[in-house]
Amino acid sequence: MRFLVTGGLGFIGSNFILNVLKRDSKIKITNIDAKLFGHNPNNLNEIRNNKNYNFVRGNINNKLTVEKLIKKSDIVFNFAAESHVDRSILNPKDFINSNYIGVFNILEAVKKYNKRLIQISTDEVFGSLKSGSANEGSPYNPSSPYSSTKASAELLVNSYQKTYDIDATITRCTNNFGPRQHSEKLIPRIILFALKNKKIPVYGSGKAIRDWLYVLDHCDAILEVAYNGKSGESYNISGNNEISNLAIIKKILKILGKPSDFMVHTTDRPGSDYRYSLNSTKIRKKLKWKPKHEFDSMLLYTIKWYLDNKDFLKYVTKVTTKHTPWKT
Ligand SMILES: NC(=O)c1ccc[n+]([C@@H]2O[C@H](COP(=O)([O-])OP(=O)(O)OC[C@H]3O[C@@H](n4cnc5c(N)ncnc54)[C@H](O)[C@@H]3O)[C@@H](O)[C@H]2O)c1
Repeated sequence: MRFLVTGGLGFIGSNFILNVLKRDSKIKITNIDAKLFGHNPNNLNEIRNNKNYNFVRGNINNKLTVEKLIKKSDIVFNFAAESHVDRSILNPKDFINSNYIGVFNILEAVKKYNKRLIQISTDEVFGSLKSGSANEGSPYNPSSPYSSTKASAELLVNSYQKTYDIDATITRCTNNFGPRQHSEKLIPRIILFALKNKKIPVYGSGKAIRDWLYVLDHCDAILEVAYNGKSGESYNISGNNEISNLAIIKKILKILGKPSDFMVHTTDRPGSDYRYSLNSTKIRKKLKWKPKHEFDSMLLYTIKWYLDNKDFLKYVTKVTTKHTPWKT
């Protein structure tokens, strides 16, 4: 079995590759990554010499590269994306290129060579929900350039599935946490600021709610969908750990031994969503998936991991350390 993973030097893609190689010695993985913003060059150092792993520096916007790699693969896992809402406000075009045009290239090659595609998507496509949880049939209502490009990609995947009968399934997950995440994202960013003894920026009131899942539970769900999910369908993935940004910041400050008010409130990001929530009954019932990791213990594990691997946190840019990155 040959997997093509796109965006495998990023957070979830790198965890997915490590997890698959550990579990199954019969799977060969090619990772294509353009080394754009969310990547970390250290993320897959440990498998550099693994005979089942091959890295190609390349962009999914390059049609010929994508075709060549998909031709030689059995399943394509499309993780590659510009992934941060703050930067999508600053630079939407990069998001359209990777998250939409890139998906178009992948779809064309998947159609040409008759391969299976797993498109990795996000709870953000459903927009902000005051109450209740989105299921697989809920309407798209994205708010940011990031989530609208992800929703657009879903529409394109669905159209190729219906029109050309390609073999494609969409997974949609809530916020992930764990090792190897770029320090532009909430949890590593809090740790980075705390280590620099700088107060943690809190967007707006901090009352925005996200649902968190440990990254390896997401990776397991993706694999389950790849093997047993139905083409033309989508599967929501969530762990029912809804928590406000303020509460998560306080938890981390406590673990790091910092005062609970070691923070500064900034203006909220434009178009900010109050709450995301997914109903994941379908994957739990049909594919018998459920999360194996518990939120608080994995949060502690994750924080320890970053403290033991401070080199990962060094991979920052100016934008990462701004209080309001969308204004830079
Ligand atoms: N992080 C989350 O909490 C979360 C939750 C739900 C869904 N997702 C989705 O999961 C996927 C992976 O997210 P992540 O957090 O690992 O992102 P990430 O930003 O950490 O990694 C993305 C990777 O894709 C690469 N990339 C971007 N554009 C590319 C292009 N045009 N060609 C080749 N490589 C390119 C980057 O270099 C980077 O290594 C994304 O599609 C994202 O929308 C993420």
